[in-house]
Amino acid sequence: MAQLWGGRFTKETDQLVYNFNASLSFDQKLYKQDITGSMAHAAMLAKQGILTQQEKEEITAGLQEILKDIEEGKLEFSPEYEDIHSFVESNLIAKKGEVGKKLHTGRSRNDQVALDMKLYVRDEISEIDGLLKELLTSLLHIMKENLHTYMPGFTHLQKAQPVTVAHHFGAYFEMFKRDRSRMQDVKKRLNLCPLGSGALAGTTYPLDRAYTAQLLGFDGPTLNSMDSVADRDYLIELLSGLSTIMMHLSRFCEEIILWNSNEYQFVEIDDGYSTGSSIMPQKKNPDIAELVRGKTGRVYGALMSMLTTMKGIPLAYNKDMQEDKEFTFDAIDTVKGCIALFNGMISTMEFKKENMENSAKNGFTNATDAADYLVNHGVAFRDAHGIVGRLVLFCIEKNCSLDDLTLAEYQEISPVFQEDIYEAISMKNCVEKRNTIGAPGTEAMKEVIGIQEKYLEEN
Ligand code: ARG
Repeated sequence: MAQLWGGRFTKETDQLVYNFNASLSFDQKLYKQDITGSMAHAAMLAKQGILTQQEKEEITAGLQEILKDIEEGKLEFSPEYEDIHSFVESNLIAKKGEVGKKLHTGRSRNDQVALDMKLYVRDEISEIDGLLKELLTSLLHIMKENLHTYMPGFTHLQKAQPVTVAHHFGAYFEMFKRDRSRMQDVKKRLNLCPLGSGALAGTTYPLDRAYTAQLLGFDGPTLNSMDSVADRDYLIELLSGLSTIMMHLSRFCEEIILWNSNEYQFVEIDDGYSTGSSIMPQKKNPDIAELVRGKTGRVYGALMSMLTTMKGIPLAYNKDMQEDKEFTFDAIDTVKGCIALFNGMISTMEFKKENMENSAKNGFTNATDAADYLVNHGVAFRDAHGIVGRLVLFCIEKNCSLDDLTLAEYQEISPVFQEDIYEAISMKNCVEKRNTIGAPGTEAMKEVIGIQEKYLEEN
């Protein structure tokens, strides 16, 4: 047990207590951030004359050696150290002797861990953003290739009106675009540096907090030292943003699972992203989509856990906050894995265009267009709705679609119908004439794709 705080104790810590309290097994993930933060702290101490230039250089060299040793696997995270902060400091002292003991001047593990976690989250947000961008790029590619791939659009999971694959995927493009902007928001708000807040009340040393903030790429120092060490809002915001990403992926997965089923046969997931059954030889299961859907609960759990951990904590730092890490790390890793796998799955998935179009043709998805035809010929919409309702009923009895009725049959129900009804309710017209911005019509879709392309170039 290499603890930093034995001085006022007369008894060794009980082993079980030590184990319960220790966090190195999981906060070792923060080693890089802990070392980066320590270097900035040492540089600031030297600038302020609290360390000599020589001392700063020795400390920095020692920290660099520790980083290298960890990365080369020469330095192991042995459980004798309580946490990553003790680990780095003890190893610095072991390497550089007395001067290593000066690093912690004007710093507490409370502001240190607050800093490490912010640095970690900031880096991870950049990674998640990169993955989301790759996903958006794949979506846009699929959209461009499927401007004329007709499929049924659903409400209440009932066929409603025909849309295109481009339009359907475009909906998810919007969702993941918002997710990126949510992540950027979290980054913007968290980007104030807590270092120099000490345990909770700052320090009497003449620290230059603006300098460390600048060295570490923050917009400035935090303005209240108690809040600095007790704030985990950014983790709640992060987990909320990650939960939303998972919710979007999960909805998309649910659709793909349906589309890939024998009943729909709209898509076929690539063999590389499917699995078989140990008993039923015919099976090809969409496990990846199911797992992504399933892992959503795990990320929601992290959010609930974090909110619950924070709800009763008095100011300032309390050890409860150590519980912020495992769930957050797990949620971040889960989301990154899910985005990457999902991207691979949709990029290799085959669209069964004919099946989609046939499905869109059945189910009276052009009934609204038949009503619109009547409106365009002077019938009031409510009356038109009633007329087409009767036509649909007639078709159901005859087991045919609106396209299959003869003109005489149309005219029996309303004399307004003429020969051009067939064109008006054709799949091509139903979809491609919907050209208000945001609709599936080809012109509207092309305009939106242009906007999304520009967005990806600029962001
Ligand atoms: N391992 C601790 C955490 O993750 C670091 C801060 C410890 N501070 C303290 N006063 N014991 O929160």
